[in-house]
Amino acid sequence: MSDVLTIGEVAERSGVATSALRFYEDHGLIHSERTDSGHRRYPRAVIRRVAFIVFAQRIGLSLEEIGVELAKLPRHHVPERSDWARLSSRWTARIRKRIAELERLEAGLTECIGCGCLSLDRCRLANPGDRAARQGPGPRYWMVD
Ligand code: FES
Repeated sequence: MSDVLTIGEVAERSGVATSALRFYEDHGLIHSERTDSGHRRYPRAVIRRVAFIVFAQRIGLSLEEIGVELAKLPRHHVPERSDWARLSSRWTARIRKRIAELERLEAGLTECIGCGCLSLDRCRLANPGDRAARQGPGPRYWMVD
């Protein structure tokens, strides 16, 4: 078994398209070495890194945030299970926030799809908890500092 993988092998094992893998690499989230003929070769550990990226995107992290998280991994050895666990343990608050947001969407779904007004006065989707009013008077979402 080889210690390095082609981009096709990484795509097959991770379930992520080769175009997405190239995109991740262009953004510095994964790294490959090039063969003499210019083909990418990835270390076997890239599979776990790709899984991390996919999961992080699902919970709403931007590519920049994912890059910041990945930079916290040890550089001098292949990250171990405990290294990955340390990263994901900080996401609990973020996941809870996302769950709350989805529950809010679910609660307003039927009413708002039938309505469509997105009123700041009464719509739970457009202005949850009257967030706009706490920012001050006037059309807060249209005002720029
Ligand atoms: S769209 Fe009208 S109440 Fe939400």
